[in-house]
Amino acid sequence: MVPGISFIELIFWLPYALVQNPVLTLLGLFVLVAALMALKDFLQRENPIKRNFPLVAMGRYALSNMGAPMRQYLFANDRDERPIPRYIRRWIEASAHNEDATVPFGTQLDLDRPGSVLMRHSAFPRMQYEEPPRVRVGADTPNPYEVARFNVSAMSFGSLGRNAVLSLNKGAAAGGYYHNTGEGGISPYHIQPGGDLVWQLGTAKFGARRKDGSFDPELFKSRASHPNVKMIEVKLSQGAKPGKGGILPKEKITAEIAEIRNVERGHDVISPPRHQEWEDAEGMCRFIAQVQELSGKPVGVKFCLGHPSFLDEICQAFIKTGIYPAYIAVDGAEGGTGAAPLAHTDLLGYPMLDAVMLTENKLIEYGLRDRIKICASGKVFTGGLLAVALAAGADWAASARGFMLSIGCIQALHCNTNFCPSGVATHNKWLQRGVVPDVQGDHAAHYQHAVIKEFAMILAACGKDHPDELTRDDIMKVVDWHRIRPMSELVPYAEEREDLAELRERLAAKAASPTAPAGP
Ligand SMILES: Cc1cc2nc3c(=O)[nH]c(=O)nc-3n(C[C@H](O)[C@H](O)[C@H](O)COP(=O)(O)O)c2cc1C
Repeated sequence: MVPGISFIELIFWLPYALVQNPVLTLLGLFVLVAALMALKDFLQRENPIKRNFPLVAMGRYALSNMGAPMRQYLFANDRDERPIPRYIRRWIEASAHNEDATVPFGTQLDLDRPGSVLMRHSAFPRMQYEEPPRVRVGADTPNPYEVARFNVSAMSFGSLGRNAVLSLNKGAAAGGYYHNTGEGGISPYHIQPGGDLVWQLGTAKFGARRKDGSFDPELFKSRASHPNVKMIEVKLSQGAKPGKGGILPKEKITAEIAEIRNVERGHDVISPPRHQEWEDAEGMCRFIAQVQELSGKPVGVKFCLGHPSFLDEICQAFIKTGIYPAYIAVDGAEGGTGAAPLAHTDLLGYPMLDAVMLTENKLIEYGLRDRIKICASGKVFTGGLLAVALAAGADWAASARGFMLSIGCIQALHCNTNFCPSGVATHNKWLQRGVVPDVQGDHAAHYQHAVIKEFAMILAACGKDHPDELTRDDIMKVVDWHRIRPMSELVPYAEEREDLAELRERLAAKAASPTAPAGP
């Protein structure tokens, strides 16, 4: 405050002073505001740097906030950025826009770096490549589904905005692949464009729950009967936050989302860490049977692998109860999310490739591989990476962030704030205006097509006619500098267990005649 005059007088005096001497007055105001801010910093008790260096410390925070975007545009190497390096993002963007996605002058990767994964091509590649055949899932259910080799992985309406969901579903309709709803239930935007849906039931059963959060069979049945819903996916966990339910920050809960999910607004919606309907693997099987019975559609389960003994537990339960899922979606710990605690993202779970191989081995061991398909997710962004995933043991793959990038996401890392600048992971109307579903839907479909085309080229380069011919022997891993091993040597294929032959026969009898008992 200027000494000698009151606040009211200052208000009246300001316009006069501005007219008389604008430069001096603005300068004086600036100094006054800066002094007040410095005083606030000096007196506050939370932040030592601001307390010790009032005002000046603000520069540090401004610069560190600007650091991430500045590094991304100006300084970061194309191969270094995380979670998705620029050269992959550029490939996705070019493919989505039907532009040239080739690269000049050779690889920029250090191919001999330990951990690198490469594929072994044939000296006699196929002369041409064709679109790979689809995978028939749930052959023993009333409504089997032919799954494309590359699909949209689970992302809810909630984590993504309305226009993003519309775009992804429009892409699925145009490209003939599935769009997984994520755990937020089925919204009108999942339905309008007409693309195939996998309805995901997470631990909170959004879209099929009672007010207390328990499963509502009648509600589920009525919604699952929608013709666009092709399969049901029961989610145990996802790679970015295993052992933790989904998180939707309160900033992203609109009235519409609250209604679709049947939840209250005003606080974060956190799904329980596990399903309340069962306590063990056999309980899970009974739930799978219930959901399959109610929907008549193939039912899969999705998890990120923690302790491999879990695979024994579920396989034993499948054999004992005679109930098994049509597919297992194996999500790698490298998977993405809208929002997750750092420790869960960085610390828990198996990466995708290892988890797929362990899962396939267990299914082989228990004689279940022919009955249960495997979907892989976790940084499967290109056709080449799809080939690696399928050679490791998956039947098809799904990607979340790949499709986000195809519809305009720029990896701004704001999915958890509702300020996604591209308008993909936000409900802000103004920002969502950027995502035009008619245009971005086509981009998503182009991207999926490019992945499939690149996959088919790799398949031909490996001298194969069918994706099922790919094996771990086609992958090699650099285990140390100048030491390369075939994956089939590092993780050998399991053998079928002899001692389970009798149980397997009973299971086969049950599959042939659903009324026959399978359990011991
Ligand atoms: C914004 C966002 C939201 C997601 N929401 C879900 C979800 O609702 N349910 C789920 O099982 N996984 C969810 N995921 C995980 C993905 O479905 C996928 O399993 C994981 O990101 C790995 O695929 P990616 O590496 O291709 O992104 C989400 C991922 C992202 C990026």
